[in-house]
Amino acid sequence: RDFGVIGARLLHWYDRHARSLPWRVPQGQADPYRVWLSEVMLQQTTVAAVKSYFQRFTSLWPTVHDLAAAPDAQVMGEWAGLGYYARARNLLACARAVSAMGGFPDTREGLGALPGIGPYTSAAIAAIAFGRAETVVDGNVERVVSRLFAVETPLPAAKPELVRLATLLTPDQRPGDFAQAMMDLGATICTPRSPACGICPILDECAARAQGIAADLPRKLPK
Ligand code: ADE
Repeated sequence: RDFGVIGARLLHWYDRHARSLPWRVPQGQADPYRVWLSEVMLQQTTVAAVKSYFQRFTSLWPTVHDLAAAPDAQVMGEWAGLGYYARARNLLACARAVSAMGGFPDTREGLGALPGIGPYTSAAIAAIAFGRAETVVDGNVERVVSRLFAVETPLPAAKPELVRLATLLTPDQRPGDFAQAMMDLGATICTPRSPACGICPILDECAARAQGIAADLPRKLPK
């Protein structure tokens, strides 16, 4: 398999079809504060629901220092509706820690030591905001990769293999755009049911498509 070709096709597709989202900066360097805030909000909430909260938070608090200085009650009030209040508490704890440090750490390890930032979020911020070649694996990425390589092992046992394959695919150049291209592909084309294979930019590369089993993957162990 030519991992370079797959990465290049995805980036080319992303350049033309990336969703326009308020925390994205086309052809520019993303702001770590905005990337962090969006990724925390997106942890258990859909893109559609997050948009207006993100706009509201960033107009009230344009920088991490502004958010760090905000009263707890106001932040909790603005969070209402997003759910999972532990996330809002961690959000404030994280903003205050980052503000005290003078800014966001620029490595996955440094980011992962902050409150509320797990392996997924640290990789996402390191790749998207700092251009680090980290691999970001969420449910969308697991689905795309399992189809691309026709991984038949059911989830969750397949996870280490999917992470290994996603890591091999991650390019040194534009790893953040690559991560977001995978997310967008999973959200808009390589969807859980009836994937739109006819318009997929990596159709020719997809092993599941070749075997006619794209819609059946990833397999999952019955709960
Ligand atoms: N879901 C989580 N992070 C995302 C991002 N940066 N773009 C689109 N969907 C996402």
